[in-house]
Amino acid sequence: MLVTSCSHKKIDTLVSSPSSNLSVEFFLTQEGQPAYRVLYKGGEVVSKSLMGFKLKDAPDLASGFKIISSDASSFANTWEQPWGEERYIENRYTELRVGLQEVGDLQRKLNIVFRVYDDGLGFRYEFPQQPQLGSFTIMDELTEFALTGDHSAWWTPGQAGNQYEYLYQNTPVSEMKLVHTPLTMETADGTFISLHEAALFDYPTMNLAVTSGTSLQAALVPWSKTSDVKAKVTTPFATPWRTIQVADKATDLLTSYLILNLNEPNKLGDVSWVKPGKYVGIWWELHLEKGSWNQGPKHGATTANTKKYIDFAAEHGFAGVLVEGWNVGWDGEWWNHGGDAFDFTKPYPDYDVDEVTRYAKEKGVYIIGHHETGASTDNYERQLEAAYKFLEKYGMKTVKTGYVETGELLTNGHYHHGQFFVRHAQKVTEIAAKHKVMVVAHETVKDTGERRTYPNLISREVARGQEYDAWATDGGNPPDHTTILPFTRMLSGPMDFTPGAFELTLPDRPNNQVNTTLAKQLALYVVIYSPVQMASDLPEHYEQHPQALQFIKDVAVDWETTRVLGGEIGKYVSIARQERDSDNWFVGAITNEDERDLTVALDFLPSGKRYTARIYRDADDADYRSNPAAYVVETRQVSAADTLDLYLAPGGGAAISLLAE
Ligand code: NOJ
Ligand code: CA
Repeated sequence: MLVTSCSHKKIDTLVSSPSSNLSVEFFLTQEGQPAYRVLYKGGEVVSKSLMGFKLKDAPDLASGFKIISSDASSFANTWEQPWGEERYIENRYTELRVGLQEVGDLQRKLNIVFRVYDDGLGFRYEFPQQPQLGSFTIMDELTEFALTGDHSAWWTPGQAGNQYEYLYQNTPVSEMKLVHTPLTMETADGTFISLHEAALFDYPTMNLAVTSGTSLQAALVPWSKTSDVKAKVTTPFATPWRTIQVADKATDLLTSYLILNLNEPNKLGDVSWVKPGKYVGIWWELHLEKGSWNQGPKHGATTANTKKYIDFAAEHGFAGVLVEGWNVGWDGEWWNHGGDAFDFTKPYPDYDVDEVTRYAKEKGVYIIGHHETGASTDNYERQLEAAYKFLEKYGMKTVKTGYVETGELLTNGHYHHGQFFVRHAQKVTEIAAKHKVMVVAHETVKDTGERRTYPNLISREVARGQEYDAWATDGGNPPDHTTILPFTRMLSGPMDFTPGAFELTLPDRPNNQVNTTLAKQLALYVVIYSPVQMASDLPEHYEQHPQALQFIKDVAVDWETTRVLGGEIGKYVSIARQERDSDNWFVGAITNEDERDLTVALDFLPSGKRYTARIYRDADDADYRSNPAAYVVETRQVSAADTLDLYLAPGGGAAISLLAE
């Protein structure tokens, strides 16, 4: 629905979502500055919010506009994900495309495009090619999000260093300063809002700054530490979409696919070589300091040790084996601007890459390559072509990348989330695609749904993962961390969280422990979506729990559909997913530090079909602090008519496999 009315030189434009529950009104202020507001079910969720840009050495693109065109259209289709949490995604929206032109001398043009869905909206700026606007520099994006109350917000800080790996804070909006997105909020009347962005290409990341009261403004990550420049742009150009998702229930945010819908379809053509899978690897032992990345007596990535993991993977059906510390560059302070030493084609002498490759092939598994850059993107870019040729040559179908740094900058002075880094990450994705390599990126730029366009960008980190449990001086991730992630970080896309710890008390790390029960570790395979899932613990720890390991072996990583059964941010969440091309379902339920009884109705199962339910739950005396590894496995025959009563211990969880008979 589109209403355009003309009065006193002012044109108001209103566009509504297909079911009319969400509307956006676009208008020009008296000064001719573009502005919008958003209505949800008749009430304002974003009040008058200004738009525009401050430019360098040119008048701002922020006022003096007139509307020269306004076109509405609607779109609906269903598209298929090559892999994902939901196979078929409905893409149904109403679009409003507003053409603006300055009334002054320059007469520059700017388009603003809104796509309004029933579950939220996106808008972006388009700079058409024009004589008065060729190459230009953006000093600030003025996009506002004027919230209508001091909502309760779950956030991590923006541009605070540490690669955006933080625990979430829950405060009123007015107590935030600069925050990362997705930013999830609950209004006083129980509406949930998430602000984020989609299709971030060749532009800096958007953080959000509280400007006054409960008004937020886009805060683009600067070009570098010494420059206030935000973005360098050449027309024609379109910014990423600024997104606002709205839902009556927090759980509905989890199955909103708006971010993916706002990205372009697959540009890689046949991506049958992109395959979800589970992996193990030389990783947790390094974080526990039982082994080391660098050379020496504890070096983890030796030929013999890799073969041990290959044997374990082959025996238990894991597709991949990650090997960290295999290449030259780890000796010395690699994390402290020592990244230039990394060589991505030179193995350490005790890692026989030919032999490891041969052995892995014989055993039917593949090695996952590892490119830790130490934030030296320059060193990495110099080697990119050779590095990806090397991966292809040795059959490494996946690479895990990393950009660890101690400050907040890459070694070349650019910011981790600035335009330079966004360009770098895209270069890596494209070169990887050329060599048919899947990328799991750590410490990279946040996810904005690019996996739709580049399906080889299969997972990433960009939040506090399980690694913190080994060494964080704050004691590791508290039990509520994983009950917040699904409603915040996970709205952006898959996460390589690396669950699967079975040895939870960490005798090698006396000051740390994993703050979950063992059953909760299993549940995380369903709750924290990733098409590549690590079984992160050591083979010897898995061998002590063959029963629990069975769940990790059985659980799917590629899904037909996803149902969120219940959840409250920071308290608990339970999710059911159907395995792709299968009738099997898997359920994961997790709680924070509080014990909880949950009833799971199995009415998501097809009626009339019998299932064997294997329930992996906390024992009655389990507790993440004192008795984390106590679990019980029960088997029952069930159907859609049944309900299961689950007890979740403090810091606990339950995992259920529902195997079709
Ligand atoms: C940080 C990554 O998140 C972790 O998984 C990796 O082991 C280290 N960097 C070393 O690259
Ligand atoms: Ca990390």
